[in-house]
Amino acid sequence: MARILITSAIPYINGIKHLGNLVGSQLPADLFARYMRGRGNEVLFLCATDEHGTPAELAAAKAGKPVEQYCAEMYEVQKDLAAGFRLSFDHFGRSSSLRNRKLTQHFAGKLAENGYIEEVSEKQMFSIADNRFLPDRYIEGTCPNCGYDRARGDQCENCTKQLDPTDLINPRSAISGSTDLEVRETKHLYLKQRSLKDKLEAWIDSKTDWPILTTSIAKKWLNDGDGLQDRGITRDLYWGVPVMKGDQPWPGMEGKVFYVWFDAPIEYIACAAEWVDANGKTEADWERWWRTDKGAADVKYFQFMGKDNVPFHTLSFPATILGSGEPWKMVDYLKSFNYLNYDGGQFSTSQGRGVFMDQALSILPADYWRWWLLSHAPESSDSEFTWENFQASVNKDLADVLGNFVSRVTKFCVSKFGNEVPAGGEFGPQEAALIADLGARIKDYEGYMDAMEVRKSAAELRAIWVVGNEYLQSAAPWSAVKTDPDRAQAIVRLGLNLIRLYAILSRPFIPDASAAMMAAMGSDDWTWPDDVSAALRALPAGHGFSVPENLFRKITDEERADWQTRFAGVRT
Ligand code: 2FM
Ligand code: ZN
Repeated sequence: MARILITSAIPYINGIKHLGNLVGSQLPADLFARYMRGRGNEVLFLCATDEHGTPAELAAAKAGKPVEQYCAEMYEVQKDLAAGFRLSFDHFGRSSSLRNRKLTQHFAGKLAENGYIEEVSEKQMFSIADNRFLPDRYIEGTCPNCGYDRARGDQCENCTKQLDPTDLINPRSAISGSTDLEVRETKHLYLKQRSLKDKLEAWIDSKTDWPILTTSIAKKWLNDGDGLQDRGITRDLYWGVPVMKGDQPWPGMEGKVFYVWFDAPIEYIACAAEWVDANGKTEADWERWWRTDKGAADVKYFQFMGKDNVPFHTLSFPATILGSGEPWKMVDYLKSFNYLNYDGGQFSTSQGRGVFMDQALSILPADYWRWWLLSHAPESSDSEFTWENFQASVNKDLADVLGNFVSRVTKFCVSKFGNEVPAGGEFGPQEAALIADLGARIKDYEGYMDAMEVRKSAAELRAIWVVGNEYLQSAAPWSAVKTDPDRAQAIVRLGLNLIRLYAILSRPFIPDASAAMMAAMGSDDWTWPDDVSAALRALPAGHGFSVPENLFRKITDEERADWQTRFAGVRT
C-alpha cells in the first residue's frame, strides 16, 4: 500500500467557480484520489479556499459585507458545491485559517534567517481619505491611450493597454472615489528567488517524468528574458496574513500582509494541520504527510492545476520550501491542464459567461457533468464545451451504453428467474473470452489512470462498458432461455457480476451511479478486481439483487435548446 498525497489548486474565494475551473484542477484531482483509494492505497486529498488579497476585498466591498464575513459565507457555498459534485476531499480548508497564518509567518521567518529576504523601498499611491496605500487595481482614472474614464491602474479594460497608475489622467481611489492621492514611500519584502535559481533548476531537471506542458512552462519562466525575478511577497492591504518574522514582529512591516500567492500554496500544508484539528488527530498525523524527517519520505505527492498556476508551483512555492532549509515534502508529479472553452468563446468569471457549478447542479446530477468534463478534459490542448456534444455524450455513453446494459440484465433476470442471482449452467468459452478481454482492458485502464491520462482513462472505461454490451448481444440470453435455460442463467449471472465490476471501475468517474449499481447488486464489496475471473464470480447463486432506478436519463432536444438559450447570456 502506497501513501498518496493529492492537492488541487485552491479556488479563489470570490464567487462561484465555472465548469472550466472545475475540470482544470479539483475534478481530475478527485478522479485520481478516488482511483488511488479504490486500489487500496492510503490517500490524503486536500483542497481549500484561497481567501486573501485584492479580489476578495473588492468582492466583499461589492457585496457590502466585511471581508471576514464575506469569506466565511463564500467558503460554505464553495464547500457545499464541492460536496454536490462529490469531490472527496479529506479536508476542505481555508487559507485564512490560524494554521496557515502561523505557517506562513514561520516560512517567512526561516527565509529571512537564511538570507533570502530583502527589504526594498518603493513608491506607491496613498489615499489620504481612505488612509491606505492603493494597489494598482484600486486606482481608477482616464486612460491616456483611449480616453476611457474608468481605466484601472494596472490596465485599461477598454483598449487593453497595460498601465502604470502614474499614467492615469485624474487618478482617483476606486474605494472612495477620492482624488486626494499622493505618492508615498513604502517598504516591502522581496524573496530572492534569483539566489535559489540553481537549486530550483536542479530540482526541475530531476523531474524527468513530468508532462511536457508542466516542464515547458517551468523552464520558460526559469530562463526567459532576464530569467527568474526576485518577487515582492508583501502588500499594503488589510486582508491577508499579517507580516511577522515567525512569531516576532517585523520592524517596519507593521500593518502589511503577505501577498496572496505567498500564503496560498502554504495552505496545502496548513490544510493537513486543519484536517487533524477537525478530526481529533495529533500533530504527528499531519507531519507524517509533510515532513520528510517525520515519515513523509515515502509519500508520493501529486498536484493538479490549470496551466496558469504552473509557474507558482514549479518556481515560487518550491523557492519558499527550498529557501526554508527545512525537510518539507516537495511535489513529485504536477499534472496541469489547458483551458476549457464555452460554446465558441471563453468561460469567464468576470463576465459571467458559461455554466457555473451551482447552475450545473440545478439542471442535472453531478455524474452527468463529471463524465462529460473528465472524458473531454483539456489535456493535450484546450477543449470546448458545447451543448450538442454534452447531450450526445450523456445520451450515448451513459444512457445507451452503461445504463442500458444494467437495465437489460437486471430486468431480464427478474422477469425470467426472479430477484436472485440464478444458479444454472457454467461459464463457457464465450465467458472465458470476455474475461480475457476485460483483463487486458482493465490493465490498460489502470495504466492510464496511474499516469493521470484522464481522457484515455475515460475512453478505456467506456470501451469496457461496450464489451459488456457486445457480450450480452452475442450471448443473447433472451434466445437461449427458450432452448437452454441453464445457459441463459449463466449469462445472466455473469451480467449481474459485471454490473458490480462496473460499479467498482466506474466509481472514480461517476460515484453516485456506481453506488446505485453496487446497492442494487446487494453488495458493499468494493475490492479492486485484480483477478477478473474471481471478481465475476463474487455474487454467488442465490444472492439477492434489485433493479436500480433508471441510472441515467436522456437529455431531450428541447432541454438542450432551452439550456443553450438560458446559458447564452451573462450571469448577473
Ligand atoms: O488560480 C487560482 O484559482 C488560485 N486561487 C490557485 C491557487 S493554488 C495555490 F497556490 F494554492
Ligand atoms: Zn484605454
